[in-house]
Amino acid sequence: MSESTSPLPVTACLFDAYGTLFDVAAAARHLSDEIGPAWEDLASVWRTCQIEYTWLRSLMDRYADFRTVTAEALDHAGATLGLALSPDLRERLMDLYMTLDPYPEVPDVLAALRGHGIATAILSNGSPDMLHAASDSAGLTGLLDDILSVDTVKVYKPAAAAYMLGCTRFGTDPSRLVFVSSNGWDVAGAACFGYRTVWVNRRNAPSERLPGCPIAELDSLDGLPDLVSDPARV
Ligand code: LAC
Repeated sequence: MSESTSPLPVTACLFDAYGTLFDVAAAARHLSDEIGPAWEDLASVWRTCQIEYTWLRSLMDRYADFRTVTAEALDHAGATLGLALSPDLRERLMDLYMTLDPYPEVPDVLAALRGHGIATAILSNGSPDMLHAASDSAGLTGLLDDILSVDTVKVYKPAAAAYMLGCTRFGTDPSRLVFVSSNGWDVAGAACFGYRTVWVNRRNAPSERLPGCPIAELDSLDGLPDLVSDPARV
């Protein structure tokens, strides 16, 4: 019998949630009339601070769930920009963060992957309540085989224990799974862990100068089903 050199087929695609499936700027955008012209800066500083706090809390061994981190980051972002966010506006921003808009191509892409026999799951820093609320409101829950939250292991990506959740769930080596993220640092972390990774570079960002390369870079999720179902490309 001749030995095959083809890569093994992909068992599942694991998706980062925020920025990859869900538009993190949507909460501030929906309230842009009330926030004013600074709404885009608020969305951007809020997101940057949120991610930095996850890394710092992991390094400090001071885990708090992502909803807490997101609220603390919002307060810091508002103060940084000198915006007086009333308690009511702050609460509505946090409520909107629970039901962020999905990117338009997401439902069709998840359905197409499953049509190819490839399972789909979220693997996110988000707390379970946030991820379930966002998936339900976006109509994605029925298109996902699972929703995996780092809250199970109480450490944020890019810690190996967080990425390991995907292998445990699907009972397979990371090389049989494709991890998909719009965050360059997340792609780097997942690739170093051992996943095949796809970078959804929605904003045409420069490559991170970090170890761990993606197998492909896309500008949206549209090309993902064709890519991962083709053994010659993965
Ligand atoms: C997540 C963040 C990192 O969904 O985007 O895990």
